[in-house]
This record gives sequence, structure tokens and C-alpha cells, in this order.
Amino acid sequence: MLIKVIYCVFCLRLSASIELSNYSFPKDFVFGVASSSYQIEGATYEDGKGENIWDYNLHRKPEIVFDGTNGDVACDSYHKWEEDISLIKNLGANFYRFSIAWPRILPSCNVGAKINKKGIEHYDKFINGLLSKGITPMVTMYHWDLPQCLEEMGGWMNASIVDDFLIYANILFEAYGDRVKHWITFNEPFQVCEYGYSGTEMAPFRNLTGVGGYNCSHHLLLAHGRTYRHYEKKFKPIQKGKVGFAVNSGWFEPKEDTEEDRRSSERVMQFSYGWYMHPVVLGNYPSVMIDRVDAISAEENYPVSRLPKFTKEEIDMLRGSFDFLGVNHYSTAQTKFSDNFHRPSFGYDCGVAPYTNPDWATSTTLPGLQMVPWGFRRLMKWIKDQYNNPPMYVTENGWATGAGLEDNERVRYITQYLSELLKAIHEDGCNVIGYAYWTILDNFEWLSGFSTKFGLVQVDFQASNRTRTPRKSYEVYKKIISSRKVIV
Ligand code: BGC
Repeated sequence: MLIKVIYCVFCLRLSASIELSNYSFPKDFVFGVASSSYQIEGATYEDGKGENIWDYNLHRKPEIVFDGTNGDVACDSYHKWEEDISLIKNLGANFYRFSIAWPRILPSCNVGAKINKKGIEHYDKFINGLLSKGITPMVTMYHWDLPQCLEEMGGWMNASIVDDFLIYANILFEAYGDRVKHWITFNEPFQVCEYGYSGTEMAPFRNLTGVGGYNCSHHLLLAHGRTYRHYEKKFKPIQKGKVGFAVNSGWFEPKEDTEEDRRSSERVMQFSYGWYMHPVVLGNYPSVMIDRVDAISAEENYPVSRLPKFTKEEIDMLRGSFDFLGVNHYSTAQTKFSDNFHRPSFGYDCGVAPYTNPDWATSTTLPGLQMVPWGFRRLMKWIKDQYNNPPMYVTENGWATGAGLEDNERVRYITQYLSELLKAIHEDGCNVIGYAYWTILDNFEWLSGFSTKFGLVQVDFQASNRTRTPRKSYEVYKKIISSRKVIV
């Protein structure tokens, strides 16, 4: 998610209860839950899986994670997948968004690498298991678990990764495309690149400020575009599936009602969601981003802009490379102009500082996460207006709590956010066709380890069988799905 984890002492303030919407979800609207491989699967070295960048780093430096934990076992979903499917089925969900672990399919690096049959078989039986219960699989190809051997060749900084990704994607289309009709190439490129290559909040912790994020994103976008075109040409006519891209965006509200704060809010939207969606929908980076990074790079004496350029062919290839947009949304921040950043950096290039608002309800376990339901509606409307009302799935949306089954804050979050989504659909005309709550199970929450919980289902990480117990929010979401209305 876009929010950096900062430790602070905010306590939860409950937002004044707002009236829930009376609208119903449209008849084709689908409900789901989402997850990712490294956060739930465990079985790190089983059945021939290769090492990923998280395995590699957390085994060597466990202190990177808040509580010294890692995803070696996590929810043990690699073995307990049938129980997971039963939970999803009992919830009444129409679809399950999960990711495939690249190093289970290609454990060693792609040049001369062999396909791991056991990895292919695992997802084969999982996909069949979902379909046998009437649950549609929505597959994310990359949710942050890059094979370590590729990282050693430069990872997302090396342009050759575009071919590596295409080889991997082709294997997935061939193996599962007869049954999987919804593909997401990448989950949250901003977090992959800005946190993982410019910064040190995500693996591979490269710390190449002001440069890493732009290079990584450039290659990742090209990998997305080429994969989309490859599918379109080779598989789509027969398999008839859809390919999308999931980008995280907060909503950024001007801190004060001034022209400058309004411009800051728009600029940060262009530098976050626009960074990725502009190329995918319109072919190139937003002009405000190109102009600023080019000018600041020149001022800093770089011989070329730190923001790479697409060729004319790449622009044509990228433009329109989506069948749906995935929107991951959690929270809202306030924004103001600022130049108080080190250089070079994304922060300075964008020139906006985000603020939390002490009057908004704040998660007790993730203090950057605030409950601002109306921000969700504004974001959906902004995307509609920017990109000519594309088909959208909300591919993640969720709230973090501590342990416990009576998760009233999460119930409030889900009901209020879904109410705002209904208004976005019915009053603003947004073309939102599905919603996935993040996430079905408590899981390994990256640098926060197991300390913060997003699950509709509680997982006992002390128990060897990782006991799963549905929370109150599970029952509430179940009722919403069956009634197609927001009711508690
Ligand atoms: C990521 C998930 C993460 C969630 C909550 C999302 O941005 O895709 O992997 O668990 O945020 O922090």
C-alpha cells in the first residue's frame, strides 16, 4: 500500500457513523477476496521452489522485519489450500484474486531454466479446486516475489527482465489460460519500484533514490505492455480472457482550500496513479511528470532525464494495453506543496508532502492507514474522468486491526467504503464491475510481520496447523454479498 509504516501513538478515533447507502449492487457486479503468494503460501523450499528476493533478504537479515518473522510458513496455504477454498466458498465470493509465485514455476533463471512441474501442478489443482466450487480465479502474475537469481542480474533495473517476464507469462497462459480468464500482470508497481529500488521499504532494498524507481517502473511498464500484446495476439482469440494491471492509489485531498494545495493534490495523483495508468491507457507518462523530472534532472546536472523515455513504437504498444484497470485503495492523505526533500528523489520531483489528519479514524496497528470513505468515492470519480470511464475492479481494499474476532472497526470500514462505492456507481456513473476485500486470511504483512491483521479470517500463527477462525467482518461481508446491499 502507499502508506509508509511509521510508528506513532495515535489511538483509534472512530469516525462519526455515516448513513449507509440504500442502493443495490448492479446485477453483474462481482465480489471477491484477494491475497498474494509470499504472504500466505509458506512451503518456501518445497517441491522445487526457487528462492525469491524476500526469502533471500529476510533469511540473511531478519531484523528488517518489525518482529523478525518471514513468510517461510505464513498461513501454510500451500498445504491448506482446500480449507482456504472452503472459506471463500462459504463466504459466497464470486472470485478469488491470488498470485502465482514466479520462482515456483521457474526456480532458476530463465535462460536455460527448466519449468518446475510440481509448481505447475500445484496451481493446476488449486485453479481446478476453485472452479469446482464455482469461484472464478483472478490471477496476479507478479506480487513482489521476484526470483533472487533475476535480482542478481539487476532485477527490474535491467531491461532484459522484460523478456524474462514474457517467458514466464507465456508459460502461465499456456498452462492455465484454458481456465483462467482474468489476469493481472503486476500488483502495485509503485511499491515494487519506489519502495524496493529507490528506497528500502520493500525487497530488494536497493536504495537508489531518484533513479531506481523510474528505471524499474519503465521496465515493468514495458513488460506489462508486451505481455498484454502477446496475449492479445497469441491467446486471446482462443482463450477469450482479459488482462489488467493493479495500481495502488490513495486519495489526496488538498490540506487547505487554496489553489496551491489543489494543484499539489492533482500533481501527486499524476505522480502516483498516473505514473502507471497514463502509459497503459494513453501511451506515455503524465506531462507534469515528464516536465518536472526533465527540468529538475537538468538542474542537477544529469546528462539525460532521470525519467526514461518511451520510443514512438513503445507508446503505440502501451496505449490501450488493458481490458480492465485494477484499483487498490486503502486510505486518504492531505497534501501540501513542499520542497523539503533530499535530492535527487521522487519526493522532490513531485514536490508534495502528505499529511495524516488527526480527526480521521486511524488504524491502531498501521498508523498511516486512515478511515476516510468519501476519499474512495473521489478517487473512483477521478479515475473515471481521467481515463474515460474504464472498466474497473477494486482489486484491494481493507483495514488493519490487532488480534480478535469482534472486529467492529473492520465492519465499519467495509460497510462505509462499500456505501461510497455504491454512490460512485449510481450517482457518479463509475464503471466499477467488481470488488475484492484485502484479505481473506491474516497473513505476513511485509515489514510489519504478523503484527497487523487485515483478515476476514483470523489465523493462529502459534498453532502448527495455523487454525483459521472467521471474524465478525466475515459474516457481515457474507451478508452484503448475498443481499447485494450494504447491511450490517
Ligand atoms: C499490498 C498487499 C499488502 C496490503 C496491506 C497492498 O498494497 O498489495 O500485499 O498486504 O497492501 O498493506
